[in-house]
Amino acid sequence: METIRIQGGIPLQGKVRIQGAKNAVLPILAACILLDDISYLRNCPKIADVDAMIELLQCLGCSLQWTSDGLTVDTGHFCCGNLPQKAVRGMRSSVFLWGALLGRCGEFSIEYPGGCVIGNRPVDLHIKALEQMGAKFCQEEGRLYACATHLTGTYIHLPISSVGVTENIILAAVTAEGDTYVDGAAKEPEIVALCDFLNCCGARIEGAGTDWIYISGGRKLYGTEYTIPADRIVAGTYLFATIGTAGKVLLEQAPVSHMESVMQVARNMGASLYVTGNGLYVEGPTRPSPVKLETAPYPGFPTDLQSILLAVETIGDGDSRIKERIFENRFRIVPQLQTMGAKIEIENGMCAGIQGVDGLKGAYLHGEELRGGAALVIAGLMADGESRVDGVSYINRGYENICRDLRELGARVTGE
Ligand code: EPZ
Repeated sequence: METIRIQGGIPLQGKVRIQGAKNAVLPILAACILLDDISYLRNCPKIADVDAMIELLQCLGCSLQWTSDGLTVDTGHFCCGNLPQKAVRGMRSSVFLWGALLGRCGEFSIEYPGGCVIGNRPVDLHIKALEQMGAKFCQEEGRLYACATHLTGTYIHLPISSVGVTENIILAAVTAEGDTYVDGAAKEPEIVALCDFLNCCGARIEGAGTDWIYISGGRKLYGTEYTIPADRIVAGTYLFATIGTAGKVLLEQAPVSHMESVMQVARNMGASLYVTGNGLYVEGPTRPSPVKLETAPYPGFPTDLQSILLAVETIGDGDSRIKERIFENRFRIVPQLQTMGAKIEIENGMCAGIQGVDGLKGAYLHGEELRGGAALVIAGLMADGESRVDGVSYINRGYENICRDLRELGARVTGE
């Protein structure tokens, strides 16, 4: 299925179950490398990025099996070795393996991870933090080599609240000699999930979810059972899709405690939200009210929902302004939306001024990254007539089956 065909103009109605969180399960899969044991990850999302991570771990001697409601991960026969170029290429999340590989093997050799369309995705802070713990890095012919005879716990100050860097430090620190203190840690719920998982495995990590995290090093770790939390970005995607189509939807299992900023924006757009026993019920307004916001590290408005909000506000009842503060190239869907009749101006690459129009018209749209692709599908749901969105393989990296989910909500979408 490389293209999604959408008949727009239908309000979403019904209920949809929110999948497990991509950005929680990926570092947890990396953490399994540190265990010589079997773990069971319940509610693991069946998405392309998890498939890629499974392939990477299998190349390292691990065996992973899908079950009815999760994934069994056996790292009892783990063997250190080079990660195959094919498995790493395009797998940004392979960066999360660095801390775990240094902790388990004391070295790794990997194709230097490139940037992606949303930004150049530097790794300088990953390298600097791991060097502070005793690792040595060198680059040769497009490959990155790292080694550490042993990792030593230390105090690390992060100048930027980086999710991946915080996760790599945690993954290295649990096996290091001595204790590690992270000052300026990212506070995302996915960091909390990683630390919860590791504490279930026998680690001792305190402060997850704050900007100060303490990790006790050198403790023996064992396999465990863990339930992956629901994906707040997928929940937010369908929340804004409901607003954009004036729908009424129950988001089952939505992690509302991780969605405060997103829910506040939804209310500002005129949505009525009701937290229920098993999720979040959303009633969209007839037409979204405009908003002015900027993306920020958690608990601020997440950059991963910026494109989706942008798409919905193209039909807002007024002018909106959205500033992107995390990644430098996250307005790439603007030209696509303009072909549908949207009125958007980008100022100095970091701020979008949106003049709400009465409606969008269907078009042939080209997805080129995960969240932008999802945003184009939502624009198609809102538009008059038929739209097609290609580049579906990007969307499948983070959504189990966006067509299935939207069809359950009454959308007329088909995957080709
Ligand atoms: C994680 O990426 C997520 N990915 C991203 O989700 C998410 O957008 C991002 O965090 C921000 O929340 C996963 O968890 C797999 P960062 P990550 O390091 O860790 C700069 C999605 O759609 N930086 O928190 O790579 C960086 O350029 C994806 O699911 C450095 O300067 O993001 C950015 O401006 C997209 N040097 C800022 O930090 C470094 O060494 C925050 O990025 C590392 C990062």
